[in-house]
Amino acid sequence: MNATEATGGTFHELVGDLDYSMFVVTTTVGSEPAGCLVGFASQTSIDPPRFLVCLSRNNRTYRVARSADLLAVHFVPRQAEWLAALFGGRSGDDVDKFSRCAWHPGPGGVPVIEACDNWFAGRVLDRVDLGDHVGFLLEPVEAHRGHRGPQFEFHRAKRIEPGHPA
Ligand SMILES: Cc1cc2nc3c(=O)[nH]c(=O)nc-3n(C[C@H](O)[C@H](O)[C@H](O)COP(=O)(O)O)c2cc1C
Repeated sequence: MNATEATGGTFHELVGDLDYSMFVVTTTVGSEPAGCLVGFASQTSIDPPRFLVCLSRNNRTYRVARSADLLAVHFVPRQAEWLAALFGGRSGDDVDKFSRCAWHPGPGGVPVIEACDNWFAGRVLDRVDLGDHVGFLLEPVEAHRGHRGPQFEFHRAKRIEPGHPA
């Protein structure tokens, strides 16, 4: 193993120990809804409010989001492991995830998942090449706050096998 491989291995161990909240990100173009579980996401600015969501180029959600104007970012409640498994463990290329959960069209028709009462819709301001993921920089245009319970976190999501290889 050379120095670069060793550094890469240690880097993956370091970031694998991090813990952070998981999100379900949905979008639509026309009548084609898409959505997946996302861990690579962060607020990037307070004023103006900005949030970055990173989508893998392998995912169906990315392919739909490439031409979408809006994304909805859902905060996954800790008890909703089934939702994380549906959106993280299955691909819309293989199953219709939206026939397996209750949802309704939100702003611009973007799917709003009813199991998540904390969510916001964001307008896509920019798409940034970040490696094997593409960053979608969002400007929140509508936000809803419901329960204040704990979030579903990465250490719980790690046992889900991604529906698409990363
Ligand atoms: C713990 C975990 C974290 C994930 N983080 C991301 C992520 O940040 N971005 C992403 O695009 N996919 C991420 N995924 C993978 C997708 O959620 C998964 O491949 C999904 O099945 C893709 O569905 P789609 O093809 O319908 O878009 C993650 C999966 C898991 C289990």
